[in-house]
Amino acid sequence: MKIIRRKADLREVTQTWRDDGASIGVVLTMGALHAGHLSLVQAAKARADRVIVTIFVNPRQFNNPEDLAKYPRTEDSDAAKLAPLAIDVLYVPDPDQIYPEGFATTISVTGVSDGLCGATRPGHFDGVATVVAKLLLQTDADFSFFGEKDYQQLQVVRRLVTDLDLKTRIIPCPTLREPDGLAMSSRNLRLGAEARAAAPVIRDALTAAARRIETGGDVAGALEGARRALIAAGLAEIDYLDLRADPDLAPLASADRPARLFVAAWLDGVRLIDNLPVQPRQAAQPPDPRPVEPA
Ligand code: PAF
Repeated sequence: MKIIRRKADLREVTQTWRDDGASIGVVLTMGALHAGHLSLVQAAKARADRVIVTIFVNPRQFNNPEDLAKYPRTEDSDAAKLAPLAIDVLYVPDPDQIYPEGFATTISVTGVSDGLCGATRPGHFDGVATVVAKLLLQTDADFSFFGEKDYQQLQVVRRLVTDLDLKTRIIPCPTLREPDGLAMSSRNLRLGAEARAAAPVIRDALTAAARRIETGGDVAGALEGARRALIAAGLAEIDYLDLRADPDLAPLASADRPARLFVAAWLDGVRLIDNLPVQPRQAAQPPDPRPVEPA
């Protein structure tokens, strides 16, 4: 595994792969790698001839400077976790390789980035869209792998790639969970023992609300039940708890089409997010109007 920090050096390597006709799979990260990231790398290895993992803590997607300052920077241990997976390149760009002096472009994806994290973290998705576009271009990615835990981010990236005619195919990968159901996240490391024990309530509350909606319960009642469960477990500050249409993320008052439940809530000073699919209730099949043919 080669560690590369300059885009020109990366281009030299990807060009040799291109000359050999190899495809390139890319996993974009901000480091602090956990099993969820490693599952994306495994998906990339299964799909592409060459694999690049990037680590760049992107300042433009943090709307809160304290959050940026606290973000773990663990390059050595990240590299050690990647070593057994035998990827080809770990790209850790120097900041000027992404945001050179005078950088003045922002990519803003509208629609899917409205609401949810887009409302509670102003500017976040502009920062994500801008850095993702740059990294997909710098790595010359044919495929890029995104976890469904950041479902809104996944939809923003899909829209971005379609709208800008980027050649990269975006591959969604399922959320990886701890045995107790908590979605894997670099932020989980910051939870104290008591908070960590309480955190699985997030998945449990979403699951209960999803089942209630799928079995005909009203959406407002299901959301209220989930809200009460979160508050009782110590997640009193809830940024959002919402049902949205899938994949356009439009607000929904009833689950009459494929949907997802989304939550962002604070525990022990840590902001945690999760989401789950909600299947629409099957509409009763209309009777078949065709006359029955005599045998
Ligand atoms: O999901 C992340 O870790 C980041 O938002 C990403 C996609 C690497 C862009 O900085």
